Amino acid sequence: MSHLPFARIQPVGPRSLAAGVGTALAVLLLALPVRAEPKLDVPYVPTPDEVVARMLEMGDVGADDFVIDLGSGDGRIAIAAVKERGARGALGVDIDPARIAEAQENAKAAGVDGMVEFREQNLFQTDLASADVITMYLLESVNAQLRPTLAKLKPGTRLVSHAFTLGDWQPDQTARVNGREVFAWVVPAQVGGRWAIADGERKVTLNLTQSFQVVRGSAAVDGRSVPVEAKLVGDQIELTVAAEGGPRTYRGTVNGTRIEPSEGGWQATRS
Ligand SMILES: C[S@@+](CC[C@H](N)C(=O)[O-])C[C@H]1O[C@@H](n2cnc3c(N)ncnc32)[C@H](O)[C@@H]1O
Repeated sequence: MSHLPFARIQPVGPRSLAAGVGTALAVLLLALPVRAEPKLDVPYVPTPDEVVARMLEMGDVGADDFVIDLGSGDGRIAIAAVKERGARGALGVDIDPARIAEAQENAKAAGVDGMVEFREQNLFQTDLASADVITMYLLESVNAQLRPTLAKLKPGTRLVSHAFTLGDWQPDQTARVNGREVFAWVVPAQVGGRWAIADGERKVTLNLTQSFQVVRGSAAVDGRSVPVEAKLVGDQIELTVAAEGGPRTYRGTVNGTRIEPSEGGWQATRS
């Protein structure tokens, strides 16, 4: 009788073999790098082409413009900005790598991959300073989170949103395309505060208050209170001040603490 422990060695049957293979597979799968599903703030729903065309028209996209589409999906807005409107470049950002891959394929097929970049990135972490036009098809809640950043962009930046508003920031344009709403805004310069206009012998003081692009205020000409009307589009301002001999209109470009006159003869500085 042998003392070797043969009795303890179990024969390998089909069941234990299957269990062993299963364990090995599980170990292999755990070792493979697994990409977590991206957490979308907005589900993917493409904008119909006719709405894309209208959005780019409302954003007045042209050869001088760099366009950023926030949440770019299959890339259709950024691609059309370059291909259909002749934009100098476009960037699409999307958090979903599958969408980025699809958009890159589409840009290549459209022959604009050299001018349109698609970046896998969270839209909330995207630097928007280079944009002349920003397009969005997001959600009301996402727009609300973006609004403080959008309102501080360089004056004159155009914002276009499919379906969703910017809350009480009233749009400058609204359109309806096949039942879809599109809204557009122009980021206004900051003009609230006290201004002094030297217009020859006439001294005008202005007190302006501002809520986005809506500017109201009071004026005094040579110490006498008079009505004032203000119109602001981006950095372009028009101030009409009632004065003796008829109203006087001052048009110019807001440049920090000064307004550069469109036609000469006066100077405006923030006081
Ligand atoms: C409604 S789709 C709009 C697609 C495209 N702009 C259009 O109008 O056809 C929204 C897109 O936003 C992307 N998205 C959602 N959350 C995001 C985030 N935090 N950062 C970047 N992209 C995001 C989604 O993957 C989706 O492609």
